[in-house]
Order: sequence, then C-alpha cells, then structure tokens
Amino acid sequence: MHVLVTGGAGYIGSHTVLQLLNEGHRVSVLDNFSNSSPESIRRVMGLSNLSVDVYRVDLLDEKLVNNTLTSVKPDAVIHFAGLKAVGESVTEPLKYYRNNVTGTLNLLDGMEVAGCRTLVFSSSATVYGESIALPLVEETPRSATNPYGRTKLHIEEMLEELGASDSRWSIANLRYFNPVGAHESGQIGEDPQGVPNNLMPYVAQVAIGRRDKVSVYGGDYQTPDGTGVRDYIHVEDLAAGHLAALDYLQTTTGVHVWNLGTGAGSSVLEVIEAFKRVSGQPVPFEIVARRTGDVAESYANAEKARLELGWKAERGLEQMVQDMWRWQKDNPMGFEADHLLELSDEELAAYLQQR
Ligand code: WQD
Repeated sequence: MHVLVTGGAGYIGSHTVLQLLNEGHRVSVLDNFSNSSPESIRRVMGLSNLSVDVYRVDLLDEKLVNNTLTSVKPDAVIHFAGLKAVGESVTEPLKYYRNNVTGTLNLLDGMEVAGCRTLVFSSSATVYGESIALPLVEETPRSATNPYGRTKLHIEEMLEELGASDSRWSIANLRYFNPVGAHESGQIGEDPQGVPNNLMPYVAQVAIGRRDKVSVYGGDYQTPDGTGVRDYIHVEDLAAGHLAALDYLQTTTGVHVWNLGTGAGSSVLEVIEAFKRVSGQPVPFEIVARRTGDVAESYANAEKARLELGWKAERGLEQMVQDMWRWQKDNPMGFEADHLLELSDEELAAYLQQR
C-alpha cells in the first residue's frame, strides 16, 4: 500500500515509517519540520535500506496540501502532524487550534480531492480529561482540560461526523497513553526541542548530564508512592498499533477508536529508579509542587485493540528505559541537525539520499 504519513519525521512518525517500510509499504512523508528533523528520515532510510518520498509541506498551506495529495495519491494517510505541548497550548491556544484543527481540515479536504478516504489519526488519552474510572475504556466520557487536549477531542468529533456523513470513509482514532523509548538501533528516538515537558526524556537528559535533577511534580497523590502514575508505552509497540489499525481499515469502513496503552501504570519514582538501574548513572531528583492540570493516575484498558486488532503492547518498562538510554547515550544532543532546515528543497533531497 502507498501510505502518506504526516509528521513522519517526528518521534512516533519516524518509528512508524520504519515499520511501514519493513512491512513492504511504499511511504511518502509530509512534514514542515517545525518540531522534527529530516535527519530522522535519512536514518530511517539507512536502517531499512529503502527510500521515502519527502514533502516539506505545512498543513496550513491549503493549495500545497491539495497539490501534494493529488500528486502522491496515497491509498491511506496516517496523520501525526500536530503541536503537542500541553503547557504551550494553554499560553497559545489559537496557535494550537489553527495548527491542529485547521491543519487537519486542510488534510481532509486534500484527501477528498485525491480520492483517499482511509485515515489513521493520532489522538491521545488526554481526551479522557480527569476521569476517575480506571482503567480507561474507549467508552469513557471525554472531556478536555487544556487546549491541546481539546484540539484532539474536536478532531475526533469532526471525524465522527465526517464518517456519519459519508460511509466511504474508513477512520481509526488511536488514543495514545505515554509514548516512550526508541528503536533498538539507538539511531532514532525522541528529540524534544528545548526543555522536555515529558518525564522520560527529562530523566534521560539528567542521566546523560544535560540537566541537574528531575523535579518530581507532587509526592502526595493517592498512589502507592505518592507520585503520578502513567501508562508508558514503547514507541515500537505504538507504531505496531498503527499498522494493525491500517490493516483493519482495509476491510472496514466507518469510524473506530482504540486505546493504545499497556494497561499497566508506573510511578514517577519507579521510572527514575529504572533509569538509575539501567544507565548506572545517578538520577538526582527533588519532589516539588504538583503541576497544574496533572491527574494522579492514568492507564488504559487495551482489551478492545487486542480483541479487534489483534494488537497488544509487548515491551515492559525495563526495555523502554534500555532503548531510551541507548538513544540518549548515542545521541546526547539529539539529531543536532537544525542546519538542515536552511537547505533548499533540492539540497534537502540530495542530503536525504546520503546513507
Ligand atoms: C508524566 C508524569 C507528571 C515531567 C502528556 C500529555 C499527553 C501526551 C503525553 C501528547 C506525570 C510527572 C513529568 C517532569 C514529573 N502528550 N512529571 N516531572 O502529562 O501524563 O501526558 O504527555 O500526546 O497528551 O498530557 O506526561 O511525561 O508530562 O508526565 O514529575 O519533569 O511525570 O507529573 O505524573 P503526561 P508527562
């Protein structure tokens, strides 16, 4: 199948592109590189020894989106492209609505023009808001507690209404829990810009010596050790969930939703201890005040994906940390490839051919 992956140069996108290639799919990547590096795609092509067509496109450029979809004519689209920093979404809500919601509308219009109506959408467990009923099932009522989460909720609702208006669409809304880890090669991984918002990359940067200590946001939650509990899922398992959803959509229309989580929760202190054990490095931390908007616990009931997609997460916390540490140790400053963004399209294409 020819799959167009928006945000394919990003963290989850690049891991999914690699699995698609290894499964024999043809892949085109659409990315504006605002929070990703072409270097990730170059390395993916090296790892798979296969080529990817790369289109430097901003989803807010309606004309270019239409032209690109019309020329690529994909059989399916996996849509990762979007802003995802919860804190930033609170200070810049319109930037999030414009980029995530309007960008998705432009993509859907482009897909219609190109006659492609198969979509896997990168949603998030954040749409469950502050639900108290755990583990979280897909029927859990949705509510958003920040603009980022509200964009995901709005897009899910838009897709539900699109599917209801036109039965030719095959749509999967995948609700991620907490993606972490990296490909076993250590060549691709999470490369957050600036100070990491999320726990695992921050802990990795403390372990490698880039940061002094971990601030543990709250030690007085009603959890076994008082710190926040989350359902961390290995990015390779997450990527495999996208391929399973894509397979499912080949024979089914309509709009479907699945949690992609492990069903198990780990606390902040458990993550820090695992990192100390695996890296052999000290990981100093300090328990500080809770972070506004955080919930005490969040973890998935992933039975629906297991029963309907035949998918379940295979990797545990230890492997997540091992693979994250290998990536961080081999790439202490991430991809270090900001200079690539100055390249012209021709220069970028030439660069991507290098192995
Ligand atoms: C995990 C735990 C923090 C950082 C967010 C988004 C979600 C998704 C994943 C995009 C919590 C604690 C964190 C730190 C800490 N993103 N923590 N010190 O908040 O569960 O989910 O990222 O889709 O939509 O909401 O992830 O990694 O930020 O926090 O103590 O420096 O680690 O309080 O308990 P979160 P996180």
